[in-house]
Amino acid sequence: MRVLTIIPTYNELESLPKTLARLRSAVPDADVLIADDNSPDGTGKLADEFAASDSQVHVLHRKGKEGLGAAYIAGFRWGLTAGYDVLVEMDADGSHQPEQLPLLLDAVANGADLALGSRWVPGGTVVNWPFHRKVISRGGSFYSRVLLGLKVKDITGGYRAFRSTTLQAVDLNKVDSVGYGFQVDMLWRVAQLGLRVVEVPITFVEREFGASKMSGNIFSEAVVNVTKWGLTARWAKLRGKKHN
Ligand code: GDD
Ligand code: MN
Repeated sequence: MRVLTIIPTYNELESLPKTLARLRSAVPDADVLIADDNSPDGTGKLADEFAASDSQVHVLHRKGKEGLGAAYIAGFRWGLTAGYDVLVEMDADGSHQPEQLPLLLDAVANGADLALGSRWVPGGTVVNWPFHRKVISRGGSFYSRVLLGLKVKDITGGYRAFRSTTLQAVDLNKVDSVGYGFQVDMLWRVAQLGLRVVEVPITFVEREFGASKMSGNIFSEAVVNVTKWGLTARWAKLRGKKHN
């Protein structure tokens, strides 16, 4: 399996070196693509330096801050064109342990079309996360689970491994969530295709350096979209039943 780990960055100058070093030593066979949104702190330049000294590290320079979702879509396209078998999502800030990547890759090797790193299944944990973030994450997962009828426990998590065929089956042009709702958006599309989603327990550790890019807008985009998708799906189901 040829694996590409995509790391989106926006002002991650302090975090990126450590994450990259850990990833390259934990899973040396996996290539890396850093998708930088022209970070003002120079993260893109630093990424170029890593790429210059390591042929398995690549950089995708984007023109400005367009959100996590847009950066990942661009990264997926890059990776699919390059012919990778598995495409991984990983945060730059050390929250996702590179040492746990083999668990996600094993799940894909064993048949998962999408392996989700999960904080909210037995064995999964969160370290140093403020109370309000736990509430938002658990509450958001609960709300999405009820509205969308998904069985997955961690719906907004950002540590994931997609089989390339899964990403080819999703119409990436239609994925328009820019913020973290992107994670729900992708999962919802994969689930609707009836593909095999497997949750793998992970340890999520709050970042040491820098700040989260989570904002009120990102939060409300997710709530509005989940509500819209959930109601649309129920409406379609109801209409379908009436007509049958
Ligand atoms: N290129 C790019 N553009 N990268 C971005 C952008 C953007 O607009 N916004 C955030 N990122 C990058 C960050 O630099 C980091 O590497 C990663 O995306 C996650 O951003 P954080 O700001 O650290 O996210 P978080 O810790 O608040 O949220 C985590 O939990 C969320 C809820 O479960 C992430 O894992 C999210 O993916 C997840 O949805
Ligand atoms: Mn983070």
